[in-house]
Amino acid sequence: MTILPRPLAGARVLIGVGGGIAAYKTAHLVRGLVGEGADVRVLPTAASLEFVGAATWEALSHHPVLTSVFEDVDEVAHVRFGQEADLVVIAPATADLLARMRIGRADDLLTASLLVTRAPVVVAPAMHTEMWEHPSTRENVAVLRERGITVIEPAVGRLTGPDSGPGRLPEPTAILEAARAAITAPRDQHGAVRRDLSGRELLITAGGTREDLDPVRFLANHSSGKQGWALAHAALVRGARVRLAAANVDLDTPPGAERFDVGSAAELASIVAEHRVQVDALVMAAAVADFTAAARAQAKIKKDDGDEDSVPAIALRRTADILRHSVLDRADSARPTIVGFAAETGGEGSTALDLARAKARRKGADLLVFNDISTGVFGAADNSVRILDRDGEEVARAEGSKTAVAHAVLDELVAALPEVP
Ligand code: CTP
Repeated sequence: MTILPRPLAGARVLIGVGGGIAAYKTAHLVRGLVGEGADVRVLPTAASLEFVGAATWEALSHHPVLTSVFEDVDEVAHVRFGQEADLVVIAPATADLLARMRIGRADDLLTASLLVTRAPVVVAPAMHTEMWEHPSTRENVAVLRERGITVIEPAVGRLTGPDSGPGRLPEPTAILEAARAAITAPRDQHGAVRRDLSGRELLITAGGTREDLDPVRFLANHSSGKQGWALAHAALVRGARVRLAAANVDLDTPPGAERFDVGSAAELASIVAEHRVQVDALVMAAAVADFTAAARAQAKIKKDDGDEDSVPAIALRRTADILRHSVLDRADSARPTIVGFAAETGGEGSTALDLARAKARRKGADLLVFNDISTGVFGAADNSVRILDRDGEEVARAEGSKTAVAHAVLDELVAALPEVP
């Protein structure tokens, strides 16, 4: 498979801006996209210019801003922009804009471009809770999603007035991640993102566990949670419902994911035990500690100032292997489908791949995603993996951004999931 190393670099991105106060946050999104090397064109609706003026978009995108199909008619902008786009992101999308998209209106440059484009479309709605929950809006969103448009769930929180609830525009970083997931996703013959995980629910673990030694110190690892996050974003754009067990991850929650924050391996084990029976797939991307303190010291462990050479002996014990237990406890062999990860460096006469193959057979997960970490991967944007089946045979290989790798893993997961009854 061809995987773009930097999916947004050089991509032509149209940003549609609807008429809502959240339009000011879209300025950060445009900056983020331009910073990644995207060629961004902003198409504001006329109403949105009441909130943020054209000068802001022109300065940030380095392109003139048009709103009407009657400007620069000789350039046929309403056809050209849509045809040339690699991705369209609408933020904020008002209830009115969602309704116009649903029925295929083309009464301004933005909606006309939406009819022309065959690029993936990501929509980030923002409105008052009543409007978001109104049956008309629910229906419009459902229809747009069926067409393969990614409609991101709004965040829950304080709205413009004194009210609060679902309706806030998600953080620009979260919209950017969804955009990255959409532009790298597999597409149907019309160019829309394939929603091959629609109706499926995934439990994804991400990050690295921390094992307390005393009230101030802990044992941890270098996992940033980025690969698990990329998997969550990718699964969401492909239509899945996502539960995300996050071990010490400092990243904005992917909009629409249900997040459970955990600290230690034991806490992660209990979240997985509780949820794995309710999902179609368990994806164990978290780096789980293999050892924890035999007993956590109640008081801070002190050094002995009188003896420069003395060090405390810290007794460790093994943690439970969550992946292995999940495989063994699976009541029938079909649900959930289980994906493990293996980070290996190789050593003692074995290559990293030899160790991963042996681990695939030992752990018994349906799929094992192996990466060779001798080259360093923690915290990086890119990854390089081989996907093994439970016999240790390679079924796929992927290299590139963590988002692109996430889609490659999900392609194999989709193939491994049992048919919906
Ligand atoms: N894993 C787990 N529970 C643990 C340790 C690891 O569920 N206590 C999971 C990880 O989430 C990952 C897979 O097992 O999906 C492999 O993790 P890794 O650390 O590579 O394997 P280990 O079993 O720890 O094997 P080793 O230490 O021998 O490399």
